[in-house]
Amino acid sequence: MPDKSGFGNTLRAVYDQRLFSTQEWKPGYDHQTARGHELWSLNHQKRDWLQGKVQIMSKLIQMNGYSSYLEIGGQPWSDRSTCSQIQCGVKHTVDPSKKEGEFPRRVGDTGMHFGLYSDDFFSQNPDNRYDIVFIDGYHEHQQVRRDIEGSLRALNPGGVILLHDMVPLTRDLEVSPINAGTCWRAFADLRASREDLEMHTLVPPWGTEDSLGIIRRGSQQRFSEPIFYTYEFLLSNIEQLMSLIDLDDFYRIYIDPVPEGK
Ligand SMILES: C[S@@+](CC[C@H](N)C(=O)[O-])C[C@H]1O[C@@H](n2cnc3c(N)ncnc32)[C@H](O)[C@@H]1O
Repeated sequence: MPDKSGFGNTLRAVYDQRLFSTQEWKPGYDHQTARGHELWSLNHQKRDWLQGKVQIMSKLIQMNGYSSYLEIGGQPWSDRSTCSQIQCGVKHTVDPSKKEGEFPRRVGDTGMHFGLYSDDFFSQNPDNRYDIVFIDGYHEHQQVRRDIEGSLRALNPGGVILLHDMVPLTRDLEVSPINAGTCWRAFADLRASREDLEMHTLVPPWGTEDSLGIIRRGSQQRFSEPIFYTYEFLLSNIEQLMSLIDLDDFYRIYIDPVPEGK
């Protein structure tokens, strides 16, 4: 299904104009976001504009009655972090930069932080199970691949995995694992090898840095071409390779399968 927001075309146009850093095309990006919001408000009065990852995950938690959440790269010590804003019963976070401890934050939530690298967390806690996992740790190809595999083993039936920073908006953001890095390569590997998964990348309408990978058990038609790990290959193949969907399709597939207006 095509991404109606034309995100791939936008990224290719930006690249063709030799805008290689996000700062260079930020004004255009801000304009698109504002325009996108206007269009969404006109056409979808009954649906929320889910612009950010917290809103999107909260919607999934609420719709599916999820009660256990794991975040790789979770920062419970910050009030502004994703995990601090999510409400979901049991919340576990994993990040080696702070020691372990409890962090009850919201009414009804029970939180526990594991001060570990994600590889160690998964090997030391093989029986932990979660309804929803958010992967946002070290944004490097093989690390993200191991994080996805560990998360799939820990996923309850009917559960879902979300991945942050799936699409580097510009070439510069691919270079460092503290930016979008090379997460997309791990996602692409599974798009090419796993028919037993359903995978999409949600591009919040008309682009934000928060392009989110979504993985759950199901089925998909694999990406069948050989993969080259270059930014140019990503841009040329992004629609199929990353299985792009817009917010409209996200609602149809994950939230609200009944056609609008019925
Ligand atoms: C982009 S920040 C996370 C932001 C946070 N997820 C949020 O949305 O509020 C990435 C975090 O991943 C952590 N990190 C780096 N390597 C990691 C690893 N191998 N396992 C778990 N966390 C890791 C870093 O210490 C850093 O705090």
